[in-house]
This record gives sequence, C-alpha cells and structure tokens, in this order.
Amino acid sequence: MEACSWWLALCATVCASAAGVGAPPWKIFKSLSEFYRSGPGRLSALDCAGSVAQEYDFIVVGGGTAGAAAAGRLSEVPGWTVLVLEAGGLENRATEIPLMASYVLNTGYNWGYSAEPDPGFCRAMEDHRCRWSSGRALGGSTIINYMLYTRGHRGDYDAWERLGNPGWGYSDVLPLFLKSEQINIPDLLNSSYHSEYGEVLVERAPFRTPLAPLFLKGGTSAWIQGERPQRAWQAYLRPSCKRANLVLADSARVTKILVHPTTKKVFGVEYVKDRRAHIVRVRKEVILSAGTLNSPQLLMLSGLGPREHLKELGIPVIQDLPVGDNLQDHVTLSGLTFLVNESVTLLEKRILSQPKYAVDYLVHKNGPLTIPGGAEALAFVRTKFAKEGVPDVELVFGPGAYSSDTVGSLRKAFAIRDDFYKELFGPIQDREAFSIVPVLLRPHSQGYIRLRSKNPFHWPLIYPNYLSDERDMKVLVEGVKMAVAVGESAAFQRYNSTLYRAPCPGCESFEHGTDQYWACAIRQLTTSLHHQVGTCRMGPPEDPATVVDARLRVLGVQGLRVADCSIIPLIPASHTMAPAYMIGEKVAKLIKQEWGK
Ligand SMILES: Cc1cc2nc3c(=O)[nH]c(=O)nc-3n(C[C@H](O)[C@H](O)[C@H](O)COP(=O)(O)OP(=O)(O)OC[C@H]3O[C@@H](n4cnc5c(N)ncnc54)[C@H](O)[C@@H]3O)c2cc1C
Ligand SMILES: *[C@@H]1O[C@H](CO)[C@@H](O)[C@H](O)[C@H]1NC(C)=O
Ligand SMILES: *[C@@H]1O[C@H](CO)[C@@H](O)[C@H](O)[C@H]1NC(C)=O
Ligand SMILES: *[C@@H]1O[C@H](CO)[C@@H](O)[C@H](O)[C@H]1NC(C)=O
Repeated sequence: MEACSWWLALCATVCASAAGVGAPPWKIFKSLSEFYRSGPGRLSALDCAGSVAQEYDFIVVGGGTAGAAAAGRLSEVPGWTVLVLEAGGLENRATEIPLMASYVLNTGYNWGYSAEPDPGFCRAMEDHRCRWSSGRALGGSTIINYMLYTRGHRGDYDAWERLGNPGWGYSDVLPLFLKSEQINIPDLLNSSYHSEYGEVLVERAPFRTPLAPLFLKGGTSAWIQGERPQRAWQAYLRPSCKRANLVLADSARVTKILVHPTTKKVFGVEYVKDRRAHIVRVRKEVILSAGTLNSPQLLMLSGLGPREHLKELGIPVIQDLPVGDNLQDHVTLSGLTFLVNESVTLLEKRILSQPKYAVDYLVHKNGPLTIPGGAEALAFVRTKFAKEGVPDVELVFGPGAYSSDTVGSLRKAFAIRDDFYKELFGPIQDREAFSIVPVLLRPHSQGYIRLRSKNPFHWPLIYPNYLSDERDMKVLVEGVKMAVAVGESAAFQRYNSTLYRAPCPGCESFEHGTDQYWACAIRQLTTSLHHQVGTCRMGPPEDPATVVDARLRVLGVQGLRVADCSIIPLIPASHTMAPAYMIGEKVAKLIKQEWGK
C-alpha cells in the first residue's frame, strides 16, 4: 500500500512535468513536499510494535543511530526484554531518495532546531541563527543525513583513550566498526579494515558525474563512499523485530528519567504518547540515546546537570554534572561556487523536469537521484597548520551549487535570508556550477546547551560558539584557499571551471580572495555539517568535565548510561554516523559483559 502510493505520487509528478502541465519546478516541489508530509509509514506493520508493558529489563530512549544499534544487540539475549521509545515515527518511501536529503530537512522528520543568535557567525541566516537539523524518526538522523560513511583517523580514538577512557583506543573500536559494517565494494572486500558481515550496508553510489574524477585528480585523493539508503532502524531494528523480547513504541516522547532521590537508582522513565503521560519501569538499565541535543536536555530535566542552572529553573538537583558543555561541531563556508561551461552538474531544474531521472532511480536504481545528498567525493587534506601530519580540513565535493537551488529547499534548510541569496546567487541562478565545501575538522571552539525552561516540550538553548577560538578561523581560511585551488586546478579546466567571484554581501569592503575577505565570508555563510558531539562527555570520574565514565555510566547514579554522539570527548576527523553506530555496538557489548551474557 505504502509502496503503491509512493509510485502514484511520483508518477503524478513525472507525468505532470512530462506533459508540461506542472512545468514550474516549485509545483513539482510542492507535490513532493506534500508527499513527504503525507505522514510516516505505519509502524503497526512491524511485528515488534506491540503495546508497552509495565516493566522492561532495558529501556532505550531514542531509536536513532546509536539507539537502534544498542537495542538490536541487546535483544539478541533471549532472556532480556527491551523497549525502545522514539519520539518520531517511521519513515516513508520519499525520505529514501539520496539526492533529496535537503527536501526532507524541511519536513517533520527534522526536529528543526535553531541556535541562539551570535554576531560572530551565521550572519547571512534569518535572525543570525544557524539552523541545526537533527533526525526525528525511527533511525534518527540517518533518516535525514547525507549518507556519507567515514570513520576518521586512528589517532582520533587513541586520543579518546589518552583522555582517560580505557577500551576506546583504535584497536578496541575497530572491531566494533567492523561488527556493524556490511561492505559491498569489491576492491575493499579483502581489506582488514572492512567487513561483509555486519548490519549497515556500505556501498558506492552507482552514479557519478564526470566531475568527481576530476576532483580526485585535482591534487587530492579521496574515497567516494556512499551508503545505500538503508537506515539505522532498517539495519538493526527491523531484523530484530521478529524477536518477541523487543518492543518499539513510536511517537513516544520521553520527558523525564526517573531517579530515586536518595538511593539515586534509576527506576523508569516518563513519556508522552497520544497526548497522555505514561510511566514505564526498568529492571536493569536505561540507555539514553536521544542524541547530542536531546540527551543532555533529558538529563537536565531529570535533575542531572549543572547545579546552578537547574536551581535557577526550579529543578531539584540529584547530581551536579557538567551536562551540556563540551559541545563541538564541524563547520564550513558553504557557497563556494565554480562555474563550468558544459551540462555536467546537477541542476535541480533539469533533474526535476526530466522524467528520465525518476525512471532511472525507480527502475534501474541508478542516476543522479542516487547521489547521497549531492556530495560525490571527499578529500582529507592538511593545511600548513596541521599537526603531526594529520589532516585538519576535509574538502567535500558537490556536483551542484546554491545557484541551482531553484525551488529553495537548500537555502531553507540552512535559513539563508532571501535578500542575501538573491544578491549573491541571483545573477548566476540555474547556471552550470559545482561547489567544494571546506570543513574544519579539529575545532578548538566549544559551545554548550542549556534548558530554556523546565518544560520538556520547549527547545533547548543552543550556543554553538563557532570560531570563537582564533586558531579555528586561521585553519578554515586556509581550507577555503585549498578548495579554490582544487576547483580551479588544471583537471577542472577541461570544463573551463572558474570561481564565481561576486563579493559576498557584507564583505564588500575587503579585497576578494584575501584572508580577511574569506574570514568575513565564513562569518556570513557559516554552515554546520550537523556533526554535533560532546555534551555528555565521557572521561575519568575524577575529571570535573566528565558526565559518563568509560563504560558510559552516568556518574553518581545507578542504572543509567548514555550512548550516542553526546559521549564523544573530542570530535573525530570524520562524519559522525559511523562513530554513532560504533558507540551503539559498544554500549551493548559493555552491558552484556557486565550482566554476564
Ligand atoms: C542533515 C544531516 C546530515 C548529516 N550527514 C551525515 C553524513 O553524510 N555522514 C555522517 O557520517 N554523518 C552525517 N550526519 C551526522 C550523523 O547522522 C549523526 O551524527 C548521527 O546519526 C547521530 O546519531 P545519534 O545516535 O547520536 O543521534 P540520532 O541518530 O539523532 O538519534 C537520536 C534519536 O533520539 C530521538 N529522541 C530525541 N529526543 C527524544 C525524546 N525526548 N524521547 C524519545 N526520543 C527522542 C530522536 O528523535 C532520534 O531518533 C548528518 C546529520 C544531519 C542532521
Ligand atoms: C581476496 O582474497 C581471495 C582469497 O584469499 C582471493 O582469491 C582474491 O583474489 C582476493 N581479491 C582481491 C580483490 O584482492
Ligand atoms: C571560460 O571562462 C571564462 C570566464 O568565465 C570566459 O570568459 C570564457 O569565455 C570561457 N571559455 C570557454 C571556452 O568557455
Ligand atoms: C569549455 O572550456 C574548455 C576549456 O576552455 C574548452 O576546451 C571546451 O571546448 C569548452 N566547452 C564548450 C562546450 O564550449
């Protein structure tokens, strides 16, 4: 039924565009958006969507990336009962189209957070607020992400271990990455860094524009790795669903973790489903996997957090902990645009108006719609500031650009102001163009998260604090210059590639191409890769910055662990999905060890 309505919606779109009826792309976009909004798939179709009992051995809060992996693995023990409470619903077929990631960002599958305004960054965004996307569905952020699979540098994990976290060095975590991975790339099958036997399918995108190979030649080398649109819940929860001991509840918003105020033992959680408050009790442990923004929020709502802050809000303090601090993220300057002279880029207008591409996707599982979020190749590079030969910047190659954002989903996803967009990109609207996005891999700046109020339905306050450390700006400016050099390299001259040099609005007073100019542009078009980590930092118990110990147990209470990107002490030089899966695998392993399974 679901598959059928999907076909009908797409056929309607395709036929409309073929007949020239709905020719303006915004109309097609509208019908697509309506389809996305047609609501989630029906969870009741799954075996494990039973009614929620009164008590479970384990309760996993958040059925996202790490949560799905943790729950899937815990339910392997037949004697254990496992409940997953997820605030979002099931995805529908439209969320699966890799190229369309930015459309899904404008739907209810995204929590749709905005950061607090700051004059130092995101100046081109509405109200100076960076838009922070985060997945709200079974599968969490894997439902809306760009599907790039990377793990970072071995030194990243060795650094976690050196910070006082035994069991997290590269030699410890590699087997967990392998446990979750199902590689389907022939030349990597024999590699000791890859595995065919895990849950998460890793493949190359079947389609490639003629530009991607040029990027790789342009003085860099890189993986092109995409993940087939398989999501965390499909990888871990759907197969586990057959087990009678696993129950999934969707649209179940957890509002509090219940901790006994004197014994400090966790005895259950409170959640809201169908507008009613419920309590479910736990026999062994609660695993908090609500992500880097919501896990600290839930801890604070439950009385576990910075004492003064909780007191101000009138929340009884159970344990004083540095929850919400240590927030780290990967930022970039988006909008570096290179113009070319042939039809080799991904022009939204062309893709939406030619039925051929929809047919390629639906029938042949190929074509430009399979390119994950529009990113085709990656390069990890070293600026002159790189330490110990380790890359400090990543260049992400996209075969499209803001200028081809005809219907506006991209600028909406980042909240770029209309006037800014029109002034900068208006003159090159719908021209053939590609972009290179330079990412600051090892930021020194740290932000933090706090509660807006004690109402669990209020958004948390987000302070990204990007680029507050001068070193970060210096590295990112070097990264921009490297991106420009690659985009205009000899390899790309085959298509007469030239950087679009119109001055960034707000930066007209600087000479184009100088360090000051790029710094200004970065503060205008600051863009997050949504790799937020660190707000429930893992570390040694004696360290005042620690929230969870190396076994992921929340300090000072019993029966509560955190397992998601929030525990990461230091952001790795990697996109953060694969590390999230690894963390889910790790928590299940630790729990099985401790309970003797
Ligand atoms: C737009 C976007 C693009 C990205 N692109 C990439 C990429 O290409 N490659 C990559 O490696 N990484 C990418 N990332 C990052 C990566 O997807 C995330 O870092 C990772 O998936 C986070 O996993 P997690 O388990 O920490 O949290 P999530 O997967 O976000 O899971 C948290 C879950 O908890 C649920 N939840 C929250 N609060 C509650 C509550 N109160 N009650 C119940 N449930 C709750 C949420 O709905 C969600 O399902 C991207 C992220 C985004 C947002
Ligand atoms: C992988 O290993 C098998 C068995 O050892 C061998 O036959 C095959 O040629 C190898 N393939 C590659 C791509 O190295
Ligand atoms: C190459 O680009 C430059 C600058 O955009 C333009 O002046 C020139 O005509 C282009 N040449 C070709 C062959 O397209
Ligand atoms: C694009 O520019 C390149 C390099 O100048 C040139 O060789 C090529 O013929 C141009 N293509 C078109 C279609 O003009």
